Amino acid sequence: MTMTQFQNHSPLAAPDQVNKSLASFSKGGNNATDQVKVTAVTHWTDKLFSFQTDRPPSFRFQSGEFAMIGLADNDGKAVTRAYSIASPHWDDHLEFYSIIVPDGPLTSRLRHIQIGDDIILRPKTTGTLNLARLRDGKRLYLLATGTGFAPFASLIRDPETYERFDEVILVHGCRTIAELGYSQKIVADSRAHPLIGEMVTAQLHYVPSVTRENFTQTGRITTLLADGKLASSLSLPPLDADFDRIMICGSIGLNQDIAAHLLAKNFQEGNLSSPGDYVIERAFVGDGI
Ligand code: FAD
Ligand code: A2P
Repeated sequence: MTMTQFQNHSPLAAPDQVNKSLASFSKGGNNATDQVKVTAVTHWTDKLFSFQTDRPPSFRFQSGEFAMIGLADNDGKAVTRAYSIASPHWDDHLEFYSIIVPDGPLTSRLRHIQIGDDIILRPKTTGTLNLARLRDGKRLYLLATGTGFAPFASLIRDPETYERFDEVILVHGCRTIAELGYSQKIVADSRAHPLIGEMVTAQLHYVPSVTRENFTQTGRITTLLADGKLASSLSLPPLDADFDRIMICGSIGLNQDIAAHLLAKNFQEGNLSSPGDYVIERAFVGDGI
């Protein structure tokens, strides 16, 4: 993609939908009418895969947002779920990163998709992990566990992220090293990308951490934040609401624990009418698998 095409894909015309709640999206019901074709599938572990689809020319979104995607069941009824869009807004394709829930209504079937298959993509997008909800600052921390990395896969490839912040610190926490495979590949490809590689290389710190194996970095994100190891390992000052902005995407437990940590340091949650110091999105609803 050229820089002109890149700019033409910027989401200038995207409507302001971020105040709409997840409940405003249909969880099924209608026939599958919004179809896109699968163009690539990669399985990373027995529980994690990513896939690309073609992109309808009218489909626009802002980095960090999610859409409803799904499959039609045997009766033709749509089974859809919220999925963060992992690809950058300027790309010709859409990409998603998915868990496999063994008995999950959607992912027990979505796991079998192959190139050429059709999936449902609803045209509306929304989400709280939005740069417009954050005050200006020096550093942007992106804190994710598991598939919570997906919205950040888009944000770390958005030039605006690097225009707004001098440094971007992406922390991806997983149980095992294998579960880091997708974020490791996205970061490596982004550093080598002809259009964004220079800014990613200069401004992005990538901190993968695992909790159930030995690795170069181990420990929960909450621990790395609380004991100051995260900032000190990168030679950065401790978190400071005057300079640091945070986006969080993980399980309810992770989100709550980090929010409590930030509130104790006087960070304020942001929204569109009143941009703040941090924003939070659930990576999924429930306790996880
Ligand atoms: P469901 O019936 O939806 O889920 C069954 C149970 O599996 C849940 O109660 C929960 O305990 C567990 N579970 C569901 N999703 C996950 C997950 N991602 N990680 C760990 N445990 C999980 N899922 C993705 O895989 N990728 C995404 O980018 C993504 N983005 C989301 C964005 C938002 C805003 C929300 C609310 C959810 C998102 N999800 C994402 C979760 C997704 O909507 C589905 O829940 C998931 O695809 C499983 O669907 P299912 O029908 O198979 O099972
Ligand atoms: P742990 O292995 O100590 O449970 P999951 O696969 O269950 O979604 O977890 C993904 C990662 O998030 C794991 O490294 C897990 O650590 C970590 N994690 C789970 N809950 C929390 C929490 N409340 N605070 C911080 N990290 C968490």
